[in-house]
Amino acid sequence: MLQQDRRTFLKNSLIAGTAMITPISLMKVLANEHKSQAYKKDKIFVGIIGTGSRGHHLAYLIKEHGHELGMEVTALCDVYKPHLDFTHSMIPEAKVYDDYRKMLDEARELHGVIICTPLHGHAQPTIDSMERGLHVFCEKAMARTLDDTYAMAEAHYRTGKALQIGHQRLFDPKFLRGMNKVFRGDLGKVTQIRAYWHRNNDWRRPVPEDHPELERFINWRLYREYSCGLLTELASHHIQVANWVKKDIPVDVRGTGSISFWKDGREVEDNVALIFTYKDGTQFVYDSMIQNRRHGLEIQVLGHKGSLELETNNFFLEDPPPPPKPAGIVQLLQDLEENVLGKVPIGSSSWDPEVAITYKGESIVNENITDGTWEQFTGFAKAIREDKPIPGLFEEGYYGSIWTLLGQEAIDTGQVVGMPEKFDIRKFRR
Ligand SMILES: NC(=O)c1ccc[n+]([C@@H]2O[C@H](COP(=O)([O-])OP(=O)(O)OC[C@H]3O[C@@H](n4cnc5c(N)ncnc54)[C@H](O)[C@@H]3O)[C@@H](O)[C@H]2O)c1
Repeated sequence: MLQQDRRTFLKNSLIAGTAMITPISLMKVLANEHKSQAYKKDKIFVGIIGTGSRGHHLAYLIKEHGHELGMEVTALCDVYKPHLDFTHSMIPEAKVYDDYRKMLDEARELHGVIICTPLHGHAQPTIDSMERGLHVFCEKAMARTLDDTYAMAEAHYRTGKALQIGHQRLFDPKFLRGMNKVFRGDLGKVTQIRAYWHRNNDWRRPVPEDHPELERFINWRLYREYSCGLLTELASHHIQVANWVKKDIPVDVRGTGSISFWKDGREVEDNVALIFTYKDGTQFVYDSMIQNRRHGLEIQVLGHKGSLELETNNFFLEDPPPPPKPAGIVQLLQDLEENVLGKVPIGSSSWDPEVAITYKGESIVNENITDGTWEQFTGFAKAIREDKPIPGLFEEGYYGSIWTLLGQEAIDTGQVVGMPEKFDIRKFRR
């Protein structure tokens, strides 16, 4: 399909029907799940496929906090023995496997599977697990290709099993409360979202000196066959949040990228910039690099009445309430200063520089400062216990992943890219 056709199709038909999940419904999941005593009696057994750094971390969280949800890890699978052994040493009671198919055949106690393999290896174990009747939590982004992403969606709708994608911001209290402000209208009309993710390191993992052939296996993030680098590994999180803010998906994306600093044989960009445009004209401006960390990471939601900085937990009003008036002599001095200085022309400029507002804003949340990584298992536990997905949650991950891959296509082709009709999943809704 021609680029123009794709975009016209989207403008006319798809966007209005995108069902994104509400923050209130997720807050209810978080509040209710922990209260339920019944849940603590009936255990939930999960297996982890891929016990590298993320798989190990999630295994640790379930070991430490699983009792809150009655969740236990009973099976571990990895093709790389050092990683499998390391996680097994933390959970020695779990059975271990070097082939996930064997795990699905033999570990009959399982209710759910957690998939933490490299990106290109997400799709098949996810589909196979759902076809065996298991609910799946799969790390973001969903898959290396659009077709694999779609095949996962098709299997999710066909089997009716939950497929929750590891976008922890969906369960992060600052994002939930912040999103509630957006949906309530506290920010006014949001017309721009800006996000960035900056680091300063080569993003390499050490490869054992006696096994240099493991370079691509261990540093899979740096190679196109397995990953889209900064986009799938980092940007996918903020693309999901931008869609969530807009309760919509973009009409198109344009972008550029380069390997400008880490010229060490890697195939993925170390420096990218993209603009996603939504139907109402909102621009989502994104950039990422790994050669300067001055600004860290942020997602700013900018409305005509207020702004959010969700990563750093800040909310700002365009017209903040005036600070309380100081009393007595302090007030007198201030009034004098304003009267005197306010009337003296300083320099001869005919305009005031548009400097940033100095008002410090307020926190979005003052308690429960977590990043949602553990909290998202509350949602997964609910889906397993009720044997059905949380409505709307899968679409967040799906369109986050689809638009991440379309962003990479825009960089690769230098074209403005829209979503082909084939990837519209409204047809699966019941
Ligand atoms: N949500 C987040 O914030 C977050 C953070 C970090 C990583 N992740 C995601 O987690 C996933 C894994 O990342 P990582 O950093 O742990 O990578 P990693 O390389 O440390 O771990 C991947 C593991 O999968 C294993 N593996 C590869 N093929 C396998 C197969 N066929 N069967 C079983 N095991 C297999 C590898 O041996 C390795 O142990 C990625 O999708 C990544 O994007 C998400």
